[in-house]
Amino acid sequence: MIKVLIVDDIPETRDHLSRLLGLEREIDVAGTASSGEEAIQVSMDMRPDIIVMDINMPGMDGIDAAEIISQRLPNSPIIMMSVHGEAEHLKRAMLAGAREFLVKPFSGDEFATSIKRVHERELARRDQLHTQVGIAAPVPSADAGSDDDHQVIAVFSPKGGSGRTTLATNLALALKQETNQRVALVDANLQFGDVGVLLNLNPKNRSVVDAVDGGEPDRDLLESVMVDHSTGIRVLLAPPSPEGADLVTPAYMRKIIEMLRENHDWVVVDVPSGLSDHTLGILDAADQIMVVAALEITTIKNVRLFLEVADQLDYERSKVRLVINRSDASQGIRIGDVEASIRRSIDGTIVSDGRLAVLAVNRGVPFVVSHPESPLARDVITLARTLAGEGTTGKATEPAPNEKTAKRGLFARR
Ligand SMILES: Nc1ncnc2c1ncn2[C@@H]1O[C@H](COP(=O)(O)OP(=O)(O)O)[C@@H](O)[C@H]1O
Ligand SMILES: [Mg+2]
Repeated sequence: MIKVLIVDDIPETRDHLSRLLGLEREIDVAGTASSGEEAIQVSMDMRPDIIVMDINMPGMDGIDAAEIISQRLPNSPIIMMSVHGEAEHLKRAMLAGAREFLVKPFSGDEFATSIKRVHERELARRDQLHTQVGIAAPVPSADAGSDDDHQVIAVFSPKGGSGRTTLATNLALALKQETNQRVALVDANLQFGDVGVLLNLNPKNRSVVDAVDGGEPDRDLLESVMVDHSTGIRVLLAPPSPEGADLVTPAYMRKIIEMLRENHDWVVVDVPSGLSDHTLGILDAADQIMVVAALEITTIKNVRLFLEVADQLDYERSKVRLVINRSDASQGIRIGDVEASIRRSIDGTIVSDGRLAVLAVNRGVPFVVSHPESPLARDVITLARTLAGEGTTGKATEPAPNEKTAKRGLFARR
């Protein structure tokens, strides 16, 4: 039985919706609520399989309630209902964490189908998460010893093109400049790795595929395929062509990163977007995950979903850091809005400078090296300093986004 909670301020509508589901054998309307506040209360007690919620309600509306519920009960998916089917409504519902959107009036059939579909998807999602976590289970490393303060920094984004490679590469160089410690940069984009291009490295160099020799990864072999860059960092390149990718399994990749961690103070990994087994293995092995996001609606939605996954994977909150790239190039979305939407504070921002970013790629000299005084480089250097500073002063505490912005929702109500 699918346990459903119906939320609507109008009693007749609640009755009508319950009746629509009356004949469904797999669906049980286990509760109703008449306001956003009550919906939160009831769902915390009842932990429904599905919540069906109206948007327009007096007091706390459905969007605000959905935001809170999706945060607290990520396993209780929400279907949002409204008489308005406009894109703006849909967008707000999605950002609040809703999984589906029903435009009133709808038939009993549509209603039941939607509930079953969302429920099925939710079960599949949990299933997949478990298998992936199973695959990515920690590989105990026997000879980890004095490398406690070594850090694997995974630079990740749910969305491609958000600046991962740019940040990972420049961050690795900034860490080298700031600390003069041992820094490794890993291009984990096995199919389409760009790190070599940004660093102007010859594609004939050896890459991660050359470190794969059946069986267990070999330390000496791994050492021999690392490329020494003129700046002093060491680089593990992605295969020169996509076919090579298949040879590097998730378990192998993870093991390689753990090995590099043993003899480097910093291992910066340029992680592919999307949650594949490869990605999850790397994120698991990482000490810190830098999530790079643009001030853009779909990206923020996906960051939010990623944070839910991170919670389900039991990652410490301090393990996940948020960096807004091109932070000054937003189209009306402000940092405060994002912080309110994801209920976390932003850990760093990087200004937009398309001219310099492109120049750096074309010349094969990262901007942290060629233009260390530029605002773009300085933002990355600040991030590196924060990371390096924490190594000696302990982990930073995480300030809660301030209450006032937290109530506003991603879009200021106009
Ligand atoms: N802060 C920035 N300002 C201007 N352009 C940027 C900035 N960060 C990245 N870019 C550009 O955006 C594009 C995508 O960046 P990239 O690092 O390749 O993203 P990803 O690795 O996430 O796909 C590149 O053309 C890059 O030069
Ligand atoms: Mg990239």
